[in-house]
Amino acid sequence: MKILVIGGGGREHAIIKKLAESDKKPELYCMPGNGGISEEAICVPFKATDKEAAVKFALENKIDMVMVAPDDPLSLGMVDDLEDAGVRAFGPVAKAAQIEASKVFSKALMKKYNIPTAQYEVFESSDEAIKYLKRPEQTYPAVVKADGLALGKGVIIAQDFEEACEAVKGMLDGGMFGKSGSRVVIEEFMTGPEVTVLAFTDGKTVKPMVSSQDHKRAFDGDKGPNTGGMGAFSPSMNYTDEIADVCMKTIFKPTVDALKSEGIKYKGVIYFGLMLTPQGPKVVEYNSRFGDPETQCVLPRLDTDLIDIFDAVIDERLEEIDIKWKKEAACCVVIASGGYPVKYQSGYEMSGLDEAAKTGVTVYHAGTKKENGKFYNAGGRVLGITALGNNLCDAISKAYAGVEKISWTDSFYRKDIGRK
Ligand code: AMP
Ligand code: GLY
Repeated sequence: MKILVIGGGGREHAIIKKLAESDKKPELYCMPGNGGISEEAICVPFKATDKEAAVKFALENKIDMVMVAPDDPLSLGMVDDLEDAGVRAFGPVAKAAQIEASKVFSKALMKKYNIPTAQYEVFESSDEAIKYLKRPEQTYPAVVKADGLALGKGVIIAQDFEEACEAVKGMLDGGMFGKSGSRVVIEEFMTGPEVTVLAFTDGKTVKPMVSSQDHKRAFDGDKGPNTGGMGAFSPSMNYTDEIADVCMKTIFKPTVDALKSEGIKYKGVIYFGLMLTPQGPKVVEYNSRFGDPETQCVLPRLDTDLIDIFDAVIDERLEEIDIKWKKEAACCVVIASGGYPVKYQSGYEMSGLDEAAKTGVTVYHAGTKKENGKFYNAGGRVLGITALGNNLCDAISKAYAGVEKISWTDSFYRKDIGRK
């Protein structure tokens, strides 16, 4: 069986490693993949957004299943094109992927179907938005979001009226996020712990995975700029069985049902970014895919064959599958290039990868290049080091024991992943 995974980061490496564990012994391909992924899969040198290349490669190489992992090919309709060409594909079609690609779409869906989320309004003109921000009942902080995909940077928590105006003008008039910022959502600021729940769905049934939590800021103590994620752990202590029940009843099932009622068949993974507010769990955001780095601590806990799950989703029989999880906790620490997320140097030789692996951790590659048997950093987030443990503390110390073995010029990592 041949499987092609689209993407080339730590999340894709975690998906590839889990697929490789299957009894079905799949032949794995990854487009474009990376240095580490090339040890387990054949890398196909096209961009993850190259829809034509994906279809052509799948047909020519008789690929049995294509798994599209990142948001941009999903929102560009790669799954639509693969399906049209008769290729089995895992992931939502473009219309369904709008839950991530358009905040205006996802907020309207939640409003229409009474799915708990922050109150909001949508604006296309900065004059109108500023008039709204001036209402006497407006409170601060206020949250200003670009409508479209913005590499996780399209959300500004404005502390006062001036900051909110600056954000609104930057997005609507200043082209801060290009077309993604041509509409903005201004929403109520919510408080409470954040939890991520990824869920498989075939458009009818929804099966949540174990919970997780990521760390978006670059430095210890949640300081510094926002990043793609500097580490994650699973499970989240805040996400109790009781809260999980509430989320299933008020958020997960209603979301899948809402999409169905809108005539949208959503098949793939939905990422529920949740905030456990004093009024109960609310949706902060939806993503149309596995999260990164959450996947690197969720999938290692999966005990069921991932190929069976993907097949059940594609064939719309997810209800039949019993998905099993390990009791152990997991922690993933990201090692990044010095200067990330602003400016960094690539091409430094990395050391200690084998020594780290000997400690029992799994080393997921996010931005590496392999040349003549040596690894070089080739991106901002470079590695994700994951360990399982009997409990979270155990997983954290095991992960850091591996992390400490690895270094290259200017590499850095957060020392407090999971300590909250
Ligand atoms: P998003 O890209 O929508 O997940 O937003 C990025 C981060 O901004 C979230 O993980 C939250 O920490 C924060 N955030 C977004 N929306 C809100 C909100 N309405 N209230 C408080 N924090 C928010
Ligand atoms: N970790 C956040 C994301 O994948 O969007």
